[in-house]
Amino acid sequence: MKKNDITSEAIANSIQALINEMTLDEKIGQLSLVNSEYGQISADTKESLKAGRIGGMLNEVAPEIVNELQRIAVEESRLGIPLLIGRDIIHGFNTIFPIPLGMAATWNESLIEECCRVAAQEASAVGVNWTYAPMVDISRDPRWGRVAESLGEDPALSSILTTAMIKGFQGEQLSQPGTIAACVKHFAGYGACESGKDYNTTNIPENELRNVHLAPFKAAIDAGAMSLMTSFSDIDGIPASANHFLLRHILREEWDFKGMVVSDWASITQLAVHGLTEDEKDSAAHAANAGVDMEMASHAYADNLAELVNEGKVSIAQIDLMVEHVLRVKFQLGLFENPYTNEPVFDSMEKRLELAKETALQSCVLLRNEKQTLPLNIKQINSIAVMGPMADEPAEQLGTWVFDGDQSLSQTPLKAFKEVLPENISLNYVRSMETSRSRDKLKIEEAVAVAEKSDVILFFAGEEAILSGESHCRSDIRLPGAQEELISALSKTGKPLVLILMAGRPVAMENIYDKVDAILCAWHPGCMAGPAIIDLLLGVKAPSGKLPITFPRVTGQIPIYYGHKNTGRPATDESVLYIDDIEVGTPQHSFGNTSFHLDVDNSPLYPFGFGLSYTTFEYSNLKLSQNKVEIGGCIFVTVDITNKGAVGAYETVQLYTRDLVGSVTRPVKELKKIKKIYLKPGQKETVSFVLATDDLAFYGRDNKLHCEPGAFHLWVGSDSNADLKAEFEII
Ligand code: GLC
Repeated sequence: MKKNDITSEAIANSIQALINEMTLDEKIGQLSLVNSEYGQISADTKESLKAGRIGGMLNEVAPEIVNELQRIAVEESRLGIPLLIGRDIIHGFNTIFPIPLGMAATWNESLIEECCRVAAQEASAVGVNWTYAPMVDISRDPRWGRVAESLGEDPALSSILTTAMIKGFQGEQLSQPGTIAACVKHFAGYGACESGKDYNTTNIPENELRNVHLAPFKAAIDAGAMSLMTSFSDIDGIPASANHFLLRHILREEWDFKGMVVSDWASITQLAVHGLTEDEKDSAAHAANAGVDMEMASHAYADNLAELVNEGKVSIAQIDLMVEHVLRVKFQLGLFENPYTNEPVFDSMEKRLELAKETALQSCVLLRNEKQTLPLNIKQINSIAVMGPMADEPAEQLGTWVFDGDQSLSQTPLKAFKEVLPENISLNYVRSMETSRSRDKLKIEEAVAVAEKSDVILFFAGEEAILSGESHCRSDIRLPGAQEELISALSKTGKPLVLILMAGRPVAMENIYDKVDAILCAWHPGCMAGPAIIDLLLGVKAPSGKLPITFPRVTGQIPIYYGHKNTGRPATDESVLYIDDIEVGTPQHSFGNTSFHLDVDNSPLYPFGFGLSYTTFEYSNLKLSQNKVEIGGCIFVTVDITNKGAVGAYETVQLYTRDLVGSVTRPVKELKKIKKIYLKPGQKETVSFVLATDDLAFYGRDNKLHCEPGAFHLWVGSDSNADLKAEFEII
């Protein structure tokens, strides 16, 4: 099958031929993406379609309406140009998978690709041909609600998983049924919003922008992403929707991107709100000249571009280039051959739910498991207390961005327990809190009473879906409401206490992590949350998730991430003194003088890449093919991993490096390679990686991508604290 070739000559000729026939108004019409009328088509919209004033529509998912929109556009307009039909398909369409942060915790490219393929099948069946995903904003501030939609803090992991998502959505041949165009977002640096407040200012030095935030976008474009969405945020004082450096210099000149750039919702008219432009007309000029091809939801282009062209403020050549980018996506989608919905190409519902369950299973991260509390041994248990605000919430467990999620598919932990628990085990359910924010003390007493009469307590804690996602940011990322108080009260019963965390972000658990025996982080796991979590709690499967983002101890540590710089004064055990241990009169320079906080341990609660299993894996025999390598060469790395326990399980083998000296300071660790393997009890496997010097290239002081000679450290292990170490040198 012909692969997607965004630069195909045939398509280029077809595009040019069409542009040559178009009037200025018809060209400007292709640059307008309008919101749907949710299941209807007004007379005005029909008129606009016939006049060729609409290039695409978002948020229409009724197939008969979508087909009618396409029919009018194709059969009743002068040039018959079909429409892009867009929708936010962020982690599933009808079948809802874990939120992207949870999908990232699987570290499993093929699984994630499968999820996106299924989402594309379900969406294209109703006529959607374009999704506003993947969201690849590097997120190191879990106060930000949109961390839920991201793939976490790391450029390498985000790049690997973004590539899988693009392949899943777009398939091998975009014009095939069951595929949709991807739209990688939000370009760029949105996750660096100050104080974790959405839409807030970002100031990102070019070197960090290139080495951290742009990496997954480049990966997406190398994977053939058809489109890209600009961010709402301003970056170094120039909002992304008018940012020549991003949209021309990086995207077109450096990366030679041939696809289409769409604004975010009214982000063009918001340029005036930012204070970059005078008014809507000025905004249209700035955005068009910067290279935003299509305008989402607002009408600055529709209302002003013709005048701007006539005034010579926007060239017709620029308009033609913008139209070319939009038409290229439509040609690649095959919409000119077939603009209408195809016979659906579905996997069976059973297969889709099995995929949703497997992904939820692999997304869950076991953070704590004292005294081997998990898995529960139901042969020795007579009663289980199930409680908490997230135990039975079919809608909330789906997470943010589930416009088309089929709630009837959503199985909660409580429901799953009721279905699988043997008769002889009593299930003592008490809600304990109306919502995650409740502070009703009476409910706590009631919950403690239920706990007292049960052998083990399962507390489903966390946040409802609405507490994360777009514009839902929190200044304090501890568990909301009285959850911490409830946990303290439950821990006093002395019963085994398992915390199952269902939230759209890392939660700061310094106050409670050592009051519970086990912590299973399930994020918002999607429709198969119940069956997946129960299988893990009962030991049917072993947890295999690994953190794609650091868990701070307290909010005040943010930003805290593994790939930080060393600074000139890194903290040492000797230099750190805890605030409560400081005696009055302690001399000014007697301790400290390094980088740490007085009032919290200088480490995260749980580091990037971390996740426990029900077995242990031993890493040994790390070998490099050589300790010196020339630029352009490769090092072959091998390591033995042995499953030392009694159960089979997945392990994600992680390879990190450190570039000790660079023309700019370098992170103390950088993830470079991953491999997820399954080992039976006692099984040993030799895992090998090929580390090329290109893998070690970075943007140096000249902001050019190159590899610099010098000494490197290398670690292989099961999280970012990996300590099985080797050294090598690039010469
Ligand atoms: C929203 C989001 C963007 C989404 C778009 C369309 O405001 O920022 O991610 O794709 O509007 O819903």
